[in-house]
Amino acid sequence: MLALNQNLQKLVSIAQKPVKRGIGLMSGTSLDGLDIALCQFSGTGLATQFKLLNFSTIPYGEHFKTEVQSIFSKRTVDLEKVCLLNEYIGSFHGELVLKALAYWGINPADVDFIASHGQTIYHAPKSLHKQAGYPNGTLQIGDSDHLAVKTGILTISDFRQKHIAAGGEGAPLALYGDVLLSSKPGESRVLLNMGGIANLTYLPASGDLNKVICTDIGPGNTLIDAACKKYFNKPYDENAVIALSGNVNPQLLDVLLAHSFFNEVAPKTTGPELFNLAYVAEAQQASNTSDIPPEDLVRTLTELSAQVIANFIKANLLQNNLHLFASGGGASNPLLMDLIKCKLSQVTVANTDALGINPDAKEAILFALLGNEALAGNSISIGNNPAVLMGKFSFPV
Ligand SMILES: Nc1ncnc2c1ncn2[C@@H]1O[C@H](COP(=O)(O)OP(=O)(O)OP(=O)(O)O)[C@@H](O)[C@H]1O
Ligand SMILES: [Mg+2]
Repeated sequence: MLALNQNLQKLVSIAQKPVKRGIGLMSGTSLDGLDIALCQFSGTGLATQFKLLNFSTIPYGEHFKTEVQSIFSKRTVDLEKVCLLNEYIGSFHGELVLKALAYWGINPADVDFIASHGQTIYHAPKSLHKQAGYPNGTLQIGDSDHLAVKTGILTISDFRQKHIAAGGEGAPLALYGDVLLSSKPGESRVLLNMGGIANLTYLPASGDLNKVICTDIGPGNTLIDAACKKYFNKPYDENAVIALSGNVNPQLLDVLLAHSFFNEVAPKTTGPELFNLAYVAEAQQASNTSDIPPEDLVRTLTELSAQVIANFIKANLLQNNLHLFASGGGASNPLLMDLIKCKLSQVTVANTDALGINPDAKEAILFALLGNEALAGNSISIGNNPAVLMGKFSFPV
């Protein structure tokens, strides 16, 4: 019999380890930085035991952000830049992983795998592109062969494509991790993540997987960030200082809320391809509010995010004893959190710290968990979502 090639041998030995250490990498649409979560897993599926060993977000520099923004969520871009950034981001993320490991005092040889999300540069569900004959589409760059070669660690990546191949929109993939890590029989829970876009997973008290809902809701921080950048030259509204100095403009808010995406039936996905400053400018024109002070605009956009989230929960999930756990950068925006609490007075609102999950690390943890599942070979089946085994393998040598 032929000997198994060394990559496959290594893969088998990692897959068979009862306890694995994996790094989850998340670089979201906010382009704030790379989230790096070193996790320890034993077991798989609903029997997964997980521990967060270390977590860091390494902020991106201005030059890198500008380079990525030049090709991000735009229909017309410099294709050579796309090609080069695909290579560069893979290798750059590898360097950041090595930096984090050195900082934590951990030897790369003691890490079994990296699960890398990559950098989304375009997300085009059918509801956005509307082109007959084409499936849902999404594109994450930062090739994982570079990550594997740079770090010497087996790397699993490109999780979203299998979901699309199986008929999904490639998002939100939080579904799988939220069910595996945060279900609690007897308690109805909403796991709300507010990154660039806000998404949620509803976990019913019954534990009935057919009743689980996971969907994007609408803008989380993306519009607030874009307005802060344009009018205040700031990447985001730190602690809502700008929004708190302004007032909600009700006319503008009404027009923003009239967007048809908010009435589409869940599950649905979206991105800055739809929710961007062009959408805001159109709404300002339609409501005759183009000249409002920029702080009123930021306040109104914060209200919009909170309102859209609260409206969705009220319309679809409201019940006695509903517990909401927030995560993502938006959970650090005090105004956004207060507004959500106020609008959902019947719901118990906390952040995922209450579940023992660092709210900033949650998305990166979820990808590490998908990596653990990819190694276990489990096809995850939840309700009417595609039952898929996600991720592609890249070897260091
Ligand atoms: N202290 C804070 N005050 C207000 N907003 C904050 C604060 N900290 C973080 N944020 C917001 O959170 C954003 C980053 O959130 P996060 O990293 O969860 O999003 P992301 O990278 O887009 O990921 P995802 O893919 O989950 O959307 C920042 O751009 C900012 O808008
Ligand atoms: Mg981020």
